[in-house]
Amino acid sequence: MTLLKIVTYPDPFLKQPTKPVTDIDDQVQKIIEDMAETMYAASGVGLAAIQAGFDKSIIVYDPTADAEKKDFQVLINPKILFSEGSMISDNEGCLSVPDFRSDVKRSERVIVEALDRNGNPLKIEAEGLLSVIMQHEIDHLKGVLFIDHISALKRQLYKKKRQKALKSG
Ligand code: NI
Repeated sequence: MTLLKIVTYPDPFLKQPTKPVTDIDDQVQKIIEDMAETMYAASGVGLAAIQAGFDKSIIVYDPTADAEKKDFQVLINPKILFSEGSMISDNEGCLSVPDFRSDVKRSERVIVEALDRNGNPLKIEAEGLLSVIMQHEIDHLKGVLFIDHISALKRQLYKKKRQKALKSG
């Protein structure tokens, strides 16, 4: 297994919409394994392929972030079919957005349709934390980051802080 380099803001690669997976082949399986490994190594609860340098519609997640059990889920070509209610995510963060966290307004419940890693159709009803993870990761596949959901002023402040940090190495 290979640890992948996580693409970070403001890399424009993160802004591009991903392509649907048409063939779940060995290359895709390898990407999935490497993504999971990378997610656990970074103590994340979710990772989208675009964050690992692949413009493919794949996400892995594990709300427990338990690197011993590695009981992660894979969604290929996920789509939100239905969403309702509203909630504030608690201190949301992203492996591609270093040193920043924010509460974000999210739907409380979603129903997601996707394929599993064997190509079988899945339908997942999620609420609470799992619902936030789904919305956050599916956003990534559309080129959207969680900081796109916060105020322009807060985003601008983070952008400046990030540019400063990048400059000073
Ligand atoms: Ni993220």
